[in-house]
Amino acid sequence: MAWFRKKQEELTVDQLPKELIPKHIGFIMDGNGRWAKKRGMPRRMGHVTGAQTFRKIVKACEARGIRSATFYAFSTENWKRPQDEVDAIMNLLREYLKESLSDFKSENIRTKFIGDRTPLAPDILALIEEAEAETAHKTGLTLNIALNYGGRHELVGAMRVLAERVKAGEMAAEDIDEQCISDTLDTAGQPDPDLIIRPSGEYRTSNFLLWQSAYAEYVFMDVLWPDFSEEHLDKAILQYAKRNRRFGGV
Ligand code: IPE
Ligand code: IPE
Ligand code: MG
Repeated sequence: MAWFRKKQEELTVDQLPKELIPKHIGFIMDGNGRWAKKRGMPRRMGHVTGAQTFRKIVKACEARGIRSATFYAFSTENWKRPQDEVDAIMNLLREYLKESLSDFKSENIRTKFIGDRTPLAPDILALIEEAEAETAHKTGLTLNIALNYGGRHELVGAMRVLAERVKAGEMAAEDIDEQCISDTLDTAGQPDPDLIIRPSGEYRTSNFLLWQSAYAEYVFMDVLWPDFSEEHLDKAILQYAKRNRRFGGV
């Protein structure tokens, strides 16, 4: 075992046994504002660079054979920010979606959005629906973008759906179980995250995948998202590979 552990320390991600590679990684893309501030630039510039990092890390996940990746792009609480910052983030998303729609043909990525779509601008909503429809048949990486996402908001939505079903006589309250709650969330049918990476030096979930992360391994990193690189990703995966996941057992 000691030999194995030592050996593992020397391993690189491409040498890891397949079962030690996380199937689903969540990314809390944090630290854009601080990155910009440190450089005397407006916060918006941090989001511009952060969006480039996002593109790079999506490709890196695909290259490493990760099955699903969920990127936290905008939370249900982020509407509190100044309007110009919210607009800048939405514009970056528009740009990304327009650009991706022409790249989709050459890529094997299935794009999905999680979060409440109701307050989104109609043109963004149309782009999201097009992106999901165009990539629904793809078999490579499943890319979830969490937009206007909040774990609590998602759970409230699921509870309302289930309450309506009980009220309509379609199911009994006793039939509500963990599986049916999972199946009613935005991530229905997808595996729970194995690993959640939060850069920026903050040690909290900020309402990300609350239900789904029950047994996720967290890696907190002291790097701001715009500076997050493939090397940071590999370091986090190697840390994950060393963890002993017990799921309550011994
Ligand atoms: C990006 O980082 C996360 C988003 C909400 C888009 P922040 O904008 O939160 O950057 P910091 O945490 O203020 O540095
Ligand atoms: C979490 O970051 C949300 C996203 C990365 C989209 P925040 O910057 O909003 O989180 P707090 O405010 O530091 O908890
Ligand atoms: Mg932040």
